[in-house]
This record gives sequence, C-alpha cells and structure tokens, in this order.
Amino acid sequence: MDALTYAGNLASLDGVVEEHGERYEFFKADIANADAMDALMLEHQFFAVVNFAAESHVDRSINSPENFIHTNVIGTSVLLNSARKHGVQRFVQISTDEVYGSLGKTGKFTEKSPLDPSSPYSSSKAGADLLALAHHRTYGQEVVVTRCSNNYGPYQFPEKLIPLMIIKALRDEPLPVYGDGMNVRDWIHVQDHCAAVVAALFEGKPGAVYNFGGGNEMLNLDLVKMILKQLGKPESLISFVKDRLGHDRRYAIDSSFAQKELKWKPRKDFKEGLETTIQWYIDNQTWWQPLLERAGRY
Ligand SMILES: NC(=O)c1ccc[n+]([C@@H]2O[C@H](COP(=O)([O-])OP(=O)(O)OC[C@H]3O[C@@H](n4cnc5c(N)ncnc54)[C@H](O)[C@@H]3O)[C@@H](O)[C@H]2O)c1
Repeated sequence: MDALTYAGNLASLDGVVEEHGERYEFFKADIANADAMDALMLEHQFFAVVNFAAESHVDRSINSPENFIHTNVIGTSVLLNSARKHGVQRFVQISTDEVYGSLGKTGKFTEKSPLDPSSPYSSSKAGADLLALAHHRTYGQEVVVTRCSNNYGPYQFPEKLIPLMIIKALRDEPLPVYGDGMNVRDWIHVQDHCAAVVAALFEGKPGAVYNFGGGNEMLNLDLVKMILKQLGKPESLISFVKDRLGHDRRYAIDSSFAQKELKWKPRKDFKEGLETTIQWYIDNQTWWQPLLERAGRY
C-alpha cells in the first residue's frame, strides 16, 4: 500500500509481481486517510503492518515541514489506530538513527540515547516512534520500532546522496557536496536493512526499539571520491555548496542489542555493495530517468 507520491514508483516492484504475483496486491492510498485504512484492514485479516511509508528527504523537510507532519506523524497515528481496531497482531514502525541527532567525534547511538532530532524530518519520525511506543503501553499493541542508519542499494530514489552522486558523475555534472564534506554517515545495504526488519517483525519484543547499522562509517567526501574513482571521473567534478541547515555532523550506530536479540547482522561488504550499486544505476537508466523528469532535476 502506497500513496505513490513523487518518491513512489510501481516500476520498483516489477520483480515482486513476477516472483509473488498471486500473493501480492497493490493498494494506492494515503496512510493518513482513516477511512481508506479501515476499509483495507476490514477487508483483509492482516497479521502485521510494517510501516515504511514516510516523507523521507531532509532537504524537502526544511522547505516544507507540513507534508512530513501529515505522513510521518498523522499517518502513523491513523495506521496505528486502524491496526489496533482491526486486531492486527504486529506493528513494525520503520524509523531512523536521525531521531538521535548528531554525535561528536566519538561514541555511538544506542537504543538508550536521548531523542534529539535536528530536522523537521527527524523530529516527525521521533514523534511517530513515540506514538508507536505509546500504543504499546496504552493499548498493549505488539509494536516494535526499528532505527536504521543510512541505506544504499538499487532502486533508491535519485535525490538521496549515493544515487544523486552516481547520476551526476555519469552526466559529467558537478557533484554538490554540503559544507566541508566532513559529515560522517554509517552506510548499510538495503538488503541488510530488510533482513533486520524481517527479524524484528517475527522476533522483536513488543515495546522494544532496535538500532540497525552497517558498521561502515565514512566521510561524505571520501564516499563521493570512491564513486568518482569507480566511474573513472575526475575529482574536479566535486563542488562544495553551502551547508544544509541544521546538518548533523556524525551518525554512528551501536547495533549490538539488535544483533544479539534478533540474531541478525549486516553481511554486505561496503566496497562490493557500492560497486554493484553503481553498476545497477549504469544498467538501469530506464528506471531512474523518468523519475528525474517527473520530479524535476536536483
Ligand atoms: N533511506 C534511508 O536511508 C533510510 C534510513 C533509515 C530509515 N529510513 C526509513 O525507511 C522508510 C523508507 O525510506 P525510503 O528511503 O524508502 O523513503 P522514500 O521517500 O524513498 O519512499 C517513501 C515511500 O512512502 C510513500 N509514501 C509517502 N507518503 C505516503 C503516505 N501518506 N501514504 C502512503 N504512502 C506514502 C511514497 O510514495 C514512497 O513510496 C522511511 O520510513 C524512512 O524514514 C530510511
């Protein structure tokens, strides 16, 4: 179920339809639409709701926070209520390490780190996390919250850092790097994130929060240089631009609790994962080209 906003794309599900056609149905709806959610939950006896739906791009949240409150806060609240009313057993709220704010040079976020979000995006996600956990305490709903670090991999919308840089480099356009490029992110392959979500869905303890990270801390600037190197493009394409407002300096995730409790661990080697991701964007221009045209250039 997806509202198919600018970021939604049914073409990303082609493989799913081929592999699981008979077990798969698609519904176009807004998670903040209570009537639509109630009708869907009434019609289907779902075992679980896994809420990935979100407005997710920090830069867009700085320009128009309202959409983020609508989907991330109100939408999550509507979905939680509808799932509760219709007896859905499990609810997984997909969240982000950004709810913890920014780290200094050392340390890592644990599940006990205080929530200290910097952007309208991360504060709306923090609000959703708290609503989800409150539903567990208040109504006894089997809610699990997962907080993951930055994802990369195929099918990622081309406004996010890695696909944006790959596409700019492929077109010999300047690669815009915020500030001094010394911000640190912990990259995790999307398949490792999804494996963790499945583990949380079936093994997560109701009311628990689980942090997921890839253990790949990297400076944004070094990451951009790696992409240029693999594509055989010059570093002179790098263009430093005015820093993002409220830009978090460093994220690093301690995922030892999730690894122990959920018997999960990230498996993808970052260098190899990045290489296959770059190759995927080279091979799948027909996937991303229409998205650029639809949403305007970044
Ligand atoms: N991308 C990351 O690095 C990352 C890291 C940690 C957590 N997350 C979380 O994972 C989830 C997915 O992230 P993403 O990067 O795939 O986001 P995305 O922006 O690429 O995709 C979001 C999807 O949600 C849909 N959507 C938006 N508003 C909706 C609404 N009101 N009702 C129904 N559907 C709606 C969009 O159409 C789109 O398909 C989000 O909850 C995000 O906060 C992402």
